[in-house]
Formats: sequence, C-alpha cells, structure tokens
Amino acid sequence: MPSRRQFVQRSAALFTLAAAPWWTRSAMALLTPDQLLQRTIPSSGETLPAIGLGTSRTFDVRLDDAILKPLENVVRNFINGGATLIDTAPSYGAAERVTGALLQRTNAQDKVFLASKISANGRERGLAQFDNSRRALQTARIDLMQVHNLQDTRTQLALLRDLQAEGKVRYIGVTHYLESAHDDLLEVLVREKLDFVQFNYSVAERNAEKRLLPYCADHGIATLINRPFQRGQLLRPFKDKPLPDWAMEIDANSWAQLLLKFILAEPAVTAVIPATSNPRYMADNLKAGHGRLPDAALRAKIVQAFS
Ligand SMILES: NC(=O)c1ccc[n+]([C@@H]2O[C@H](COP(=O)([O-])OP(=O)(O)OC[C@H]3O[C@@H](n4cnc5c(N)ncnc54)[C@H](OP(=O)(O)O)[C@@H]3O)[C@@H](O)[C@H]2O)c1
Repeated sequence: MPSRRQFVQRSAALFTLAAAPWWTRSAMALLTPDQLLQRTIPSSGETLPAIGLGTSRTFDVRLDDAILKPLENVVRNFINGGATLIDTAPSYGAAERVTGALLQRTNAQDKVFLASKISANGRERGLAQFDNSRRALQTARIDLMQVHNLQDTRTQLALLRDLQAEGKVRYIGVTHYLESAHDDLLEVLVREKLDFVQFNYSVAERNAEKRLLPYCADHGIATLINRPFQRGQLLRPFKDKPLPDWAMEIDANSWAQLLLKFILAEPAVTAVIPATSNPRYMADNLKAGHGRLPDAALRAKIVQAFS
C-alpha cells in the first residue's frame, strides 16, 4: 500500500502529467525535479524509488540503544530522502528484528516497501521461517518475499504463491549473489512467472548485461541489484582520491554515486540496494537517484576509473 505521502506525491505528479500536452507526457512520467528516481514494477505498474537499502551485516547488531542510534539515523535519512525499499533476510542474524525495531523507533512502518527471503528446505520450515520474519519485522504482510539463493526453489515458490493468494505477500521472486548462478536464475524465470529477481551487478561484475537484464526487460520482471559496491571493496581504494571532472556531467559528487549511477543507467534495473550503517553514506547513496545518468561513453569512463 502506498503511504499517504506517496499517494499525495503521486497524485500531484499525475495531475501535472494530465495537464501536460500529450507529446511531453512519456518523458515526464517518472521524475519530478526534486524527487528520487522512480522505476515501475512491471507486474503491477506500482512505482518504486530506485535507491533501496540492504541490511546484510550492517543491521546484524544487538538491540541496544547506543548501537541502534546511528542505524536509526540511517533509516531517518532513508525515509526523509523519499526511499522505501528495505531488503533483509532471516539468515542475516538479527537484521530482521533490528529492521522491525528501527521502523518502530522512526515511526516508519507504513512508509516502507519490505523485502525479505526464505532460506529453508521443505514447506513447513519455509512457513515457520516466514511467520518468524513477520514477527521480527512487526508486520502482518511483507511486500516482497524472495527465495534466497535458489534454495529449495520449487517448494518455496509454491508456498509463496499460496501466501500471495492469502494476501500475506504482495510480490514474489528469487535471488542470488554470484555470476555463476545467473543461468540458474534465468532457468527459473523462464519456467515460473515471477514479479522480481535479485542478483549481483556492478562495474566489476557485468555478466547480467548479457542475458539476465535483457530477459527481464523483455518479459516484464522487476530487478533488484545487490552488492553494488562488492561489500564496500570497490570503494576502499578511492577513499582519499579526488573525483574526476567528468563526474559533474552526471551530477555525481562521490565515488559511490558513480557506482550507483552506472547501475541505474541500465533501464532494466528497477532498484539497487546498497547496505550501510553510516547515515552520511545513506545520504550520499540517495543522491545517486537524482540528476543525470551516464550515457554509454560516460559509463565506459566509470568502468575505466574503477579498473
Ligand atoms: N543472495 C542474496 O540475496 C544477497 C546476497 C548479497 C547481498 N544481498 C543484499 O544486497 C545488499 C547489498 O549488498 P552488500 O551488503 O553485500 O554490499 P554492498 O552494498 O555492495 O556494500 C556494503 C558496504 O559498502 C559500504 N558503503 C555503503 N555506502 C557507502 C558510501 N556511500 N561510501 C563508502 N562506503 C559505502 C558500507 O560501509 P559501512 O558498513 O561502513 O556503512 C558497507 O560495508 C545486502 O545488504 C543484502 O540486502 C542479497
């Protein structure tokens, strides 16, 4: 369900759209000047902010006030920046419980699009895990449920379809984080009708450009991109390096934004989900969802800069 704020934003955008002459409408459809970039979920037509938030390791912490404080500010910056998509999983230690607690503390439960996963063998274990996730996240319904790393895919997708029919899940999908699994992901996408697929894609891992991204574009499947910074590894050597002048041409003022804009320039990408425990990094990452995106020549320069 869109929040009231999203509803008002979208109504205003639609009003502007309706008032515009027909020949300008398609260009205006998904972005107003100060709004975070939005992309459409093909199976429903619902829009989703293109910058999300991962929670692996960064949200696996003790439920302790002092430890939660910076993460609370990550979530505040995230919500205030117009983002909604949070990706978590039962296998990320305490991350689901911490996500639930942070959403309570920031009063943001109805402002987010929650994605979690099932990583279990057998229907009963899958169902028990799903119920635990709902308790941990303090929600009756989870927006997107994904089969984690293709574990027991057939059984868990059948379960997720039933949960979707009962209204406990809105969208379903599958995930992986290795290029060696891209063909297996494709096989599932050909066999099953899914709303979402999540996989790794970055300047350093471009295999998805060959078949996965084009297949999703052609078949109306939303894509979530994990490991955009390869767990931060891509950014480490650039900590104190000045940005190249051409970064200005795409309104980027950090190396992280260059990496995220490289990914978002792929039209088949619905959203990218960088993880962070640092409120400053959160604000930085959100800026990648504003301003211009690189064309082919600038994308090549980004690849070159990181190679
Ligand atoms: N199989 C799967 O389904 C699967 C597998 C992998 C990942 N995922 C999902 O994808 C998400 C993202 O992947 P990931 O967590 O592996 O790695 P990632 O997002 O590529 O990198 C995260 C690291 O980047 C650093 N970082 C974030 N923003 C930064 C910035 N602006 N400047 C400098 N450093 C920055 C963070 O540092 P700090 O910690 O200091 O903030 C963090 O250590 C995961 O959290 C998870 O939700 C799913």
